[in-house]
Amino acid sequence: MTSFCILLSGRGSNMEALADAVRDGRLDARIDFVASDTADATGLERARERGIETVVLPYSSEGKKASEQRLSRLCSARGVEWIVLAGFMRILSSEFVMAHAGRIVNIHPSLLPSFPGRDGIGDAWRWGVAVTGVTIHLVDAGIDSGPILAQRAVEILPEDSLETLEEKIHAAEHALYWKTLSELFRTGVPAERRWRR
Ligand code: GAR
Repeated sequence: MTSFCILLSGRGSNMEALADAVRDGRLDARIDFVASDTADATGLERARERGIETVVLPYSSEGKKASEQRLSRLCSARGVEWIVLAGFMRILSSEFVMAHAGRIVNIHPSLLPSFPGRDGIGDAWRWGVAVTGVTIHLVDAGIDSGPILAQRAVEILPEDSLETLEEKIHAAEHALYWKTLSELFRTGVPAERRWRR
């Protein structure tokens, strides 16, 4: 069975949606561990409550290189095939990305290449666009720039606030991430991208 780990920095709602999909058999894979760059990430607590092993990467005490080495060692020792970012707010080094080329997936809360960076929802809101959305992509050495695997549009309606937009984006993320990973793990490329490759 495909084995993956999840990296997060915050509350972990995408991790929970993936864990639900694994539990319900919609995503035929195993979450080997959930790792974070910060010990107090709510997502770590939520993973522990679900009985998933958690790992704190020593970014603050030992830095990026030591943290990435720890992660690489863990993945190879455990036979973890995919590294799934779910709100992980650190930039991975190009060395790490190259070592795991084509095996790192990220979710971003905008229609890339629009609004990359730390606040994709707020940036789209402040720009005043009528349509934003969600992107799932492979990670390359850039910021939110790797090959796109799947996207979903989310309309910003006159009655929306930043809060309702955030809710709509998160709902779209939770619906799309497990489906995209399921396709990716089974076939290497999600169906909606196959015609482009
Ligand atoms: C998600 O909206 C995810 O797309 C975003 O962080 C949020 C994490 O929420 N990621 C990025 O902005 C990456 N550039 P969660 O912790 O509730 O899953």
